[in-house]
Amino acid sequence: MSSHEIPEENLPAAQAADDHEHRSVAVADEKHPFADPGLPPHEHRIQDIDERAARRSERTVALLFTVSMLATIGFIASFVAIGVDENVYVWPFGHTNALNMALGLTLGLALFCIGAGAVHWARTLMSDVEIADERHAIEAAPEVKAKVMADFKQGAGESQIGRRKLIRNTMLGALAMVPLSGIVLLRDLGPLPEEKLRHTLWSKGKLLVNMNTNEPLKASDVAVGSLTFAMPEGLEEHDEDFQKEIAKAALMIVRIQPDNIKDKQELEWSHEGIVAYSKICTHVGCPISLYEQQTHHVLCPCHQSTFDLSDGGRVIFGPAGHALPQLRITVNDEGYLEALGDFAEPVGPAFWERG
Ligand code: FES
Repeated sequence: MSSHEIPEENLPAAQAADDHEHRSVAVADEKHPFADPGLPPHEHRIQDIDERAARRSERTVALLFTVSMLATIGFIASFVAIGVDENVYVWPFGHTNALNMALGLTLGLALFCIGAGAVHWARTLMSDVEIADERHAIEAAPEVKAKVMADFKQGAGESQIGRRKLIRNTMLGALAMVPLSGIVLLRDLGPLPEEKLRHTLWSKGKLLVNMNTNEPLKASDVAVGSLTFAMPEGLEEHDEDFQKEIAKAALMIVRIQPDNIKDKQELEWSHEGIVAYSKICTHVGCPISLYEQQTHHVLCPCHQSTFDLSDGGRVIFGPAGHALPQLRITVNDEGYLEALGDFAEPVGPAFWERG
């Protein structure tokens, strides 16, 4: 068989290509001065004329769909087997949550393999004959509908979905299993974090450490109008649980003229106008970072919740439902700022409600 002879089983695709080559093209006339050059001649792919190449493509597609199924199984196994608090070292990023890493990799691989399998199938085995379809009225005539159905059946035949059972079955398996990833994730809707957000690393006597310099903060370092971010002493950036702890314990330190503090408890919990508030927004937990020293307002960049640090961290604008928790502080004999205990209420999003 010469390289241009086409096996009998491949005749439909090849015939369609030949039909295409013989279609009529519009010629130039007065109304249409430029002739339609038409589509270039159709070229058969190796899979159209060589059944062994077609089978290789079939196996490749089936392999991709199979890998997708295995990745989905890996996703579910990771979800069940890996603890939510387990960490893993990943170069060059450092320590990261092992469960998130495993779920991301396996789900990504499962979806990628389905996509790659479908693309490879379309590029190598489905018909690649280009078809020109003229515009027509929106409502289809009965004969058009009949033609659509006929075209659909022809397309199904040309896609070889009925003939290539290995591809069809593995694809159906992969598509059926991917939604399982979403179902097992429902477990994360509960249980509530209960006590986990009610405690942070702050305790009586813990020094406030400047997050920029890593040095303990002295009361004399905090100027009126400045904003300083602080964390508890003993917490180091390379600690495995640094991200988890700083997400609860991060503080904003500002100094306000005591006369300008409107809330009585806030004044009592401050030191000479130095107040310490949670940096974690009570809406959905973004870190707050924008301070307007004239008004003592801080703004959360995520959804613009605005809190008044001169009035008990009260919400004055935006979707946040609760005031920012304040940390009670004092100063030790050496002039360093230190906590007088943990926060009196949970920090962060207000899912827990008070009661
Ligand atoms: S997280 Fe701060 S306003 Fe939404």
